[in-house]
Amino acid sequence: MPGLPEGFIHTQDVLHERLSGPRVRELELRHGNEELLHGLDILGLAGPFSRVTPWELEDERGVRRINASGYAAMPFGEMPPAITDFMHEFLTHNRAMGLPQQSTSPWRAALEANLVRLLARELPSHADSQVFFCSSGTEAIEGALKFAKAWRRGAKYAVSFGSGYHGKTLGSLSLTPNPEYQDIFRPLVPGAVTSPYGDLEAFKRLLRRLGPDSVYAVVVEPIQGEGGVNIPPAGFLSGLGEVCRRHGIPVIADEIQTGLGRTGHWFESAAQGLDPDIVTLAKPLGAGLTAVGATIVRAPIYKKMLGGLSSKRHSNTFGGGALAMAVGLKSLEYLLEHDLPARSLELGEIGLTRLRALHRRFPQLLEDVRGQGLLMAMQFRPMVGIPLPSMLREIVFEATAILALRELHLGGVMANLSLSSKRTVRLTPALDMPADVFGTLLDRVEAFAQTHPNARDLLLKTPPQVTARLAAFAATSPKKRTPSDG
Ligand SMILES: Cc1ncc(COP(=O)(O)O)c(C=O)c1O
Repeated sequence: MPGLPEGFIHTQDVLHERLSGPRVRELELRHGNEELLHGLDILGLAGPFSRVTPWELEDERGVRRINASGYAAMPFGEMPPAITDFMHEFLTHNRAMGLPQQSTSPWRAALEANLVRLLARELPSHADSQVFFCSSGTEAIEGALKFAKAWRRGAKYAVSFGSGYHGKTLGSLSLTPNPEYQDIFRPLVPGAVTSPYGDLEAFKRLLRRLGPDSVYAVVVEPIQGEGGVNIPPAGFLSGLGEVCRRHGIPVIADEIQTGLGRTGHWFESAAQGLDPDIVTLAKPLGAGLTAVGATIVRAPIYKKMLGGLSSKRHSNTFGGGALAMAVGLKSLEYLLEHDLPARSLELGEIGLTRLRALHRRFPQLLEDVRGQGLLMAMQFRPMVGIPLPSMLREIVFEATAILALRELHLGGVMANLSLSSKRTVRLTPALDMPADVFGTLLDRVEAFAQTHPNARDLLLKTPPQVTARLAAFAATSPKKRTPSDG
């Protein structure tokens, strides 16, 4: 084709898998997030991986693994036929505008209405709530913070909770109290304050200290996901809601990870007795195929920021796009038709029972297991048991989870790290994973525990050259990397 730069890679080459695994890794190391991919490459986790079934992926050698990763954003697995069949239909028949920024859209209208109906079914006070769409979780949080700030004009503080995770753009990052992600960006957005998660009395004390009128938002995950699957004590969320309602402080329930069935409920906050003013959703809405984020807001709060001529005060280009909305709509339909929140709760109970049994059998490997629905966590003991200085301890903690991830991977299970909990590996399988595949997944986790009964086995079973390369990786500053070829 004329005018193409030399080496231009054609869609057909990618689609028909003419780009080899080593070539993909080479290109990514050269032009992508080199350091991250280099680390994954050392561990043998860099892929590329291809879909075999919605629940299984294979590497370039044809080794199959069950996918329990995807950071809770793959509710129906990889390329789920129910959604892809509908996408074909959409691409063939849709005539609605692609990006209806300046007009109404049937797809957006339907998804707005359905989301509000679903929420209001659990929380009737949301019957006339309004929705703002975007393209990621962090952007949904940014929107939520702006709605709250406009509502409580002049108030200085936003409160979030220890080990919480709300994203990595500046506003959400300011409320994600993790020095690893925050430190080099200081000063962050002013007024972000942290309270211990699950401790209502501490929150009340903080509020007294700040002065309730000076707080414009409280942001809370009903179960912390990236924090390592932390379930708050009963009464924490409902109590938090009560205190905030008394003082007129908007509560933002960050349901980006928990919402739409992952924890066994449509909205985990509602299940725990919280009636939040703003709800953020993202991950599962896009079914792993598009990016959809949503901020659902009580009508008066929505109108305060986006009223009259100020209705352009918050906007984006892609939020509400037809394809994203259509996929979001189909995802909701599929969740409803198969009652997947209930299924998630049911499978999750089976999973947690088995993980608890492993915890009892292998206490030197597993320090704790936690979960609700298909959001499950294994917290490992440190693989080096002796007391260490704090810097080294952090590295050992992180390496423990990383090596566990590698060993699970070798055993046929793809799992997730936890961004704000260093020794915790999470399993977040598809909500519609067939029972026999789910059973095999748990069998493989059990086999992994049997072959690594003590956390130090994670280190002992890792080939020395992998450990050496990882140590060198941790110690060196960025430089151009050479990928391994497998
Ligand atoms: C609770 C929660 N909030 C916000 C986010 C950020 O979402 P995203 O990665 O789409 O920006 C995440 C992502 O893991 C999350 O778990």
